[in-house]
Formats: sequence, structure tokens, C-alpha cells
Amino acid sequence: MSRLNILNRLSKKGRERRAVGTTNDSPRRSSEEKTSSEYPAMTSINFPFSSNKRLALAESPYDKPVEKIRKEEYAHMNNGVYLDHSGTTIYAQSTVKRFAEKMTSNLYGNPHSANEPAKFAGDMVDSVREKTLRFLGADPRHFDLVFVANATAAIKLVADCFRDLSEQTRAGTFWYGYHRDAHTSLVGVRELTKGPHSHKCFESDTEVEDWIEGSNSFGQPSGSLALFAYPGQSNLTGRRLPLSWTGRIRHDRTKRLRNTYTLLDAAALAMTSPMSYVFEDPETAPDFTCVSFYKIFGFPDVGGLIIRKDSGHILALRKYFGGGTVNMVSAVGGAWHVSKGLETSNTHESEHGAGGLHEGLEDGTLPFHSLLALGEAIDVHKELFGSMENISVHTSALVRRLYQGMKGMRYDNGQPLCKIYHSGEEDLLLESGRKRDDVYGDARVQGATVAFNVFREDGTYESYARVEKMANDRGIYVRSGGVCNPGGIFTSLQYEPWMLNRAKSAGHHCGSNGLSIINELPTGVVRASLGAMSTTQDVQTFLSFLRESFLEKDGPAVPAAKKSNIKKRRHQSQPHFDGFSFFTTTAAGPDSNAAAAGGRAIMGEATKRTATSILPPSPTPTNASCGQEERGEAAVLMMKPRCLERVGSAVSV
Ligand SMILES: Cc1ncc(COP(=O)(O)O)c(C=O)c1O
Repeated sequence: MSRLNILNRLSKKGRERRAVGTTNDSPRRSSEEKTSSEYPAMTSINFPFSSNKRLALAESPYDKPVEKIRKEEYAHMNNGVYLDHSGTTIYAQSTVKRFAEKMTSNLYGNPHSANEPAKFAGDMVDSVREKTLRFLGADPRHFDLVFVANATAAIKLVADCFRDLSEQTRAGTFWYGYHRDAHTSLVGVRELTKGPHSHKCFESDTEVEDWIEGSNSFGQPSGSLALFAYPGQSNLTGRRLPLSWTGRIRHDRTKRLRNTYTLLDAAALAMTSPMSYVFEDPETAPDFTCVSFYKIFGFPDVGGLIIRKDSGHILALRKYFGGGTVNMVSAVGGAWHVSKGLETSNTHESEHGAGGLHEGLEDGTLPFHSLLALGEAIDVHKELFGSMENISVHTSALVRRLYQGMKGMRYDNGQPLCKIYHSGEEDLLLESGRKRDDVYGDARVQGATVAFNVFREDGTYESYARVEKMANDRGIYVRSGGVCNPGGIFTSLQYEPWMLNRAKSAGHHCGSNGLSIINELPTGVVRASLGAMSTTQDVQTFLSFLRESFLEKDGPAVPAAKKSNIKKRRHQSQPHFDGFSFFTTTAAGPDSNAAAAGGRAIMGEATKRTATSILPPSPTPTNASCGQEERGEAAVLMMKPRCLERVGSAVSV
């Protein structure tokens, strides 16, 4: 069956489901969306977002122009152009000031104690818990919030509970399904299952659809204890995945999935999207949802697990307990305990933070000072931006501009400058009649991220790590590499499994010092991501950087401050292997000389260290040779085609 037919089939199913009043007919679908025929096939399967408002460029969805907010609250961002909001967004100065004021004027004790300062801190934590749930659009009557270190800790907490419970099942394991766009932290859950057939990576949305519809079980025993996890937004491409899956799994009519729970990783989604879409209807909401608050507010560094109360009992059966999660413990003369989890797992009356599921899951002392900061961050965020809906509208307009600017850039010979990655299912997109141009700027399907690689004029790939370094040297901060999305990266780059094996055997790994290009194919991407306080100027500066660094033969205009640094470093780092000097002398028409010489230039400290070890241990025989050549002021490491390029890349969280 062609993919277009699959889409049509799924679209029809979506319509049928609505006709019989099942989950797709939930109140969270706005009338605007229900009548939307703009993307009939795609929306009917997937996308509940109604926020598709487009701004005229001069318009601001905030009370003040974003440039004014930037000036007043984010002066510490002035030293460059920050485009790594998916790593973390940046905190407002008022958050830090108000936090400091409270810290220096109040006395906060450990909430586990009973004295006045402890009670004061405990009450503060309860009110921040409720405030945070309300900020996320999760009604405290139906949802509880467990504070954890970060999204990864939330995922691990859920995974530990499933492993513990699965020991009581006949199979001795739970079944775990995860989408290929999953962040590494979701992928790692599979290690807690037992046996090679107890986990499945869904390689496409279509596979997930087939599994939900029952046409393929993908090895999941019917009715088995199972967890299905996926990201609300890919941390690699920014693509937003269907939120309708969670409700459809819960309301599976065949009952095959009756013991399948859902975990939505909203760490990336929650940065620039209202979460009310996720939590509006407790009947269709995920059982478990994880977030990292520093990605929404910039500070504090705390995460959360939002639990649908009706599903929470499943987490109460975990084995571990710590201080704070147990009511009574015997250590000498017997080993028994009374877990708080079991006692509180079905406490529905806790609407105001006190009591409830979280009591059995928050081991040890909470980061209560950080939670104080979280309360301040929420208030300041609301004052500055009004709502997450506003942020969604603002960042969608910016990412559209960024995408269109990048897409339009070409060399004189017509070669496009950028390869932009969306979903890895481009043919599906195109067959559905939807153009990629429609995606960027449409908050239903795309967040404020562009993942890309840069082409050279001859159509070969530039090293992503080099692009990141060049940007860094211009004071523009992006991220490059595999960005902790193993399934997404290799789908986007259209790797086959053997190519991944080859990369492993050639010594590629995530993080710094990986191989950025293997036999003409990149192993990662450059990721530019925007946040609530990003400006049109940020986007323009980045586009100018790309144009000047790659398309204009005269090379980039280096800011004066940078130039003097570069000079200094050049003197310090003879004989010219320092990444700075390399970039300034070769950035003009990058590698035009190298390309003319039939070679490829690579650079940076990592290259210097590994220059002798980069000859390919690739299973593909090559006649590659690498050598160092002096050209003018800077050293250029020349490689014949087919060499591996090892250039340090950013830490890839
Ligand atoms: C989609 C997604 N999931 C999980 C994580 C991990 O978040 P943390 O490092 O805060 O645990 C990230 C971090 O970038 C992410 O983007």
C-alpha cells in the first residue's frame, strides 16, 4: 500500500472515530481545528494544536515589544546570539532578583521537620506545586506533580516502577515501545526490560498507527504490562508528534492495550507550547508526562513528572523507598516498611499540593530552595510573556523566518546552502500534498527548531562541528552533533543499520571528538533553536553569518573584539592549529581552496590531537591519505575524499 493510501486510510479512520464519538472527538479539539481542511490527512491523524495564528512581522504577541523585554530582562544575553534554547532557555533577571529577595528575607527550613521555618517551606512547596500544575494547564484534581531533578530523572522513576512491578508478572518483564524520535533518556528504558523481544523501537508514525489499530502487535503479548513512550516534540528536528496517541491507547476497543500505559516526554514541547493541549482532558491525557523546568524558564534546574491520578497507583508499587517516602520502617529484627506510596496512591482529595501520590515518590529532601525559585519564575514568565500561547505564536513566526531565510540561500552555481531535516518521512509529507514550507510556522506540527547541515559549493557536506565553531567564533551559539537523539539522527540522515555499525567501528561516538563525516555523510546536524525572548535580529544575524561565511567569497566580517582575541590566540598557538586562526583564514568561501585541491579541510583542537588516527578503519576500502599543508597564515589539514572527519562537537544532551 502506498504511503498516500496509508494516510488516506488513517484519515478515514480518524473521521470514523469522531463520528462514533470516541477520543478524537474530545473537547480539546477547537472548532477552528475541526473545520480546518488545510492539512486534512495530517491533522486528522495527528495534530490537535489549534495555535496556527501567524503574525505580521512587526506584530508582537506580548504586551511589550520583545526587544524591550530583552533589554530590560535579558541584558546578560547581549554578548552574543543565543540559539540553543533547546539546550536551555535563559532566565529573566527579575526571577533571580525576586528569588534572592525572598531568600534573604525569609527563613526556610527542611520541609520534613515540624518547626515553623520548616512548615513555612513546606507550605511554599505545596503552593508552588499547585501553581506549576495550573501553569501547565493540569487540573490538580486530576493530576499530581512529582518534583525531580530533570526530565531524565522523571523517565527513570517511571521506568524503575515498571521494572519493579514487572517482577510480579508471569513474563517477568514489561514490554516497552518507544518512538524513533525519542531522546536517549527514553531509549535507555529498554535496558530495564528482559529479553530481546520485550522492547520495540517504532521506526515511523505509521508503525505506531498500525500497532494502535491492531494490524501489527510488534511482538507485544496481548494484555501485557507495557509502557509506550514518545516525545511531544523531537529534540532534534523540532517536529511535534501526535498527542492523540495517548487517548487512543487508553481507549483501545480491542483491549489488547488495556495494560499499556503512556509516557509523554514533553521536555522539548513544553518550552514553547501551551501544555493545556496535553492535559485538557484527563481521559485522553498521557498517564505520565515529564518536563524540565529550566527549558521553560531558564531557571531553576528542576524537573517534573506529571501523573494522571487515575493511573498513579501503578507507580505506588515500586520497591525503593527513601527518607520522605515511607511511613514506617523496621531495620533491626525484621525488614519491613510501610510505603507512603501505597497509602496515598488513591488520595483524590489532595487538590492543594499536600498529600497525594507525590508523597510516595519524592525520595529525600526536595530541592525546596529551587522550588521557591520556580514559583518566582512562573510569575515573572506570566508578567513578561502573558501566556504560552503567546510564546507559541512568537516563536512560530520566528522559526518560519529562519527556515525561509535558510532555504533561500544558494551558491552561484545553484547549489543550496542548507539541507534541512524535518521528520525523516519527507516522502510521506510530500505525498500528503503538504509542503515543507507549510510546516515551519505551524505550531501544530513544528516547534521553534531548525536542524540542518551545510553543503559546500560542490554539493559535499561541511562538517557540522566546523559550522558550530565558526558560529561560536562569531558569537552565535548553536549546538551540533547527534544531540542525544539516536533514532532521529540516523533516520534524518538516512543511515542504514550497517552504516551505523561502520560508524561505531570507525570510532564515532556522541559528544566531543566524534567523527563528523564518514564517507561523505554527516553523522550529526547543526541545531538552531529559538525561545520566548528570541528576536528577529537574532534570526537575521544568524542568516547573515551563514551568508557571509559560506556564500560570500570575501568571508565573514569578524567583530572587532573577536578579531583582537583571534590575533592573540594565533600568536599563542603556533604552528597554527588553533581552531580560531584556522577559521579566520579559511572561512572565506570555506574550503574553496581545499575543494579545488581535491581535498577537504578540517580543523580544531580535536583534529590536532587525533590527526594521525583519522585514517579510516572503515570496512570500505579507501585510498585516502591525509596530510598537512601550510597555506598562508594558517595550517589546513587536507584529506582526500572518503577520509573520516573527526572534529570535536558539542556535548550532546
Ligand atoms: C525531548 C527531550 N527529552 C529529554 C531531555 C532530557 O532532559 P534533561 O537533560 O533535563 O533530563 C531533553 C533535553 O534536551 C529533551 O529535549
